[in-house]
Amino acid sequence: MDAHAVARPPSPMLALPVASWTDPLAPALQAEAQEALESGSVLVFPRLTFALDAAEWRLLAAAESDGSRKNVSYDPATGVLKGTALPPDRRPALAAVMRRFADSAQALLLAVAPGYAPHLERARTSFRPTEIAGRAMPWRKDDTRLHVDAFPSRPTRGRRILRVFVNVDPDGTPRRWAVGEPFEEFARAFLSRVPRPLPGSAAVLHWLGLTKGRRSRYDHIMLHLHDAAKRDAAYQGDTARQHRLDFPPGTAWMVFTDQVPHAAHAGRNALEQTFHLDPAGMAHPERSPLRVLERLTGRALT
Ligand code: SIN
Ligand code: FE
Repeated sequence: MDAHAVARPPSPMLALPVASWTDPLAPALQAEAQEALESGSVLVFPRLTFALDAAEWRLLAAAESDGSRKNVSYDPATGVLKGTALPPDRRPALAAVMRRFADSAQALLLAVAPGYAPHLERARTSFRPTEIAGRAMPWRKDDTRLHVDAFPSRPTRGRRILRVFVNVDPDGTPRRWAVGEPFEEFARAFLSRVPRPLPGSAAVLHWLGLTKGRRSRYDHIMLHLHDAAKRDAAYQGDTARQHRLDFPPGTAWMVFTDQVPHAAHAGRNALEQTFHLDPAGMAHPERSPLRVLERLTGRALT
């Protein structure tokens, strides 16, 4: 193969010496960070602590999941909190911590990429108390397997999924990740395993209330790429192609999880904020999974 035709693989991560959730970045650093983010690097903030006072620590320690879902989830748009076993009188205080994190994550993202503002939607906030290592999960929900994010009930119709995390574990436990190859390579490896959507299935799923909005061709492909990767034991075992990333407590990170194959192998007590971004807001929309898949399949997907 002609070496000049191969895109240089992105560095798996770029560390940024930022110590505030809200301060604007110097313009040169901003440009470098956004470039790395859109090329599929994880932006790591090794000095970014999410400070919690003693009462907030006690709240998070008691906020464990009620077992109905993996995480405690909060919707900053409606204030609805779900999945916690916390007694009702303590829930508003937990919601307040999660809202403060949602606001911090948004400020950080806009410090990195202010141009995203008009194209951005802030979605759910999650608190992830449970130790990942050793947790039994059906394969499709098992995030210790490398995957790109795609949600069966929430079609994005090409909008990006960008997530901001912070490790708040009080006992020093790092969150251990692995990240995989560039999106185009990942997509080329699994695209042939994506079946044709059944005619009318998107309309039926929507009509039955199983999807929030209608699944596009894009969503169909992304879901099948997610599944095909997770169920491929040879791919999962090929650790030589993976980069290990450890995030100790007091570290934040952000990444396009629809683009970067990732797996979380161990760790507990993380906060996470999800954003959706219209690819039109990117400096390089051609790097979005939507545009890459449209190029690879030769057809419009939304
Ligand atoms: C995932 O998105 O696959 C899980 C990430 C994490 O909880 O660290
Ligand atoms: Fe994921």
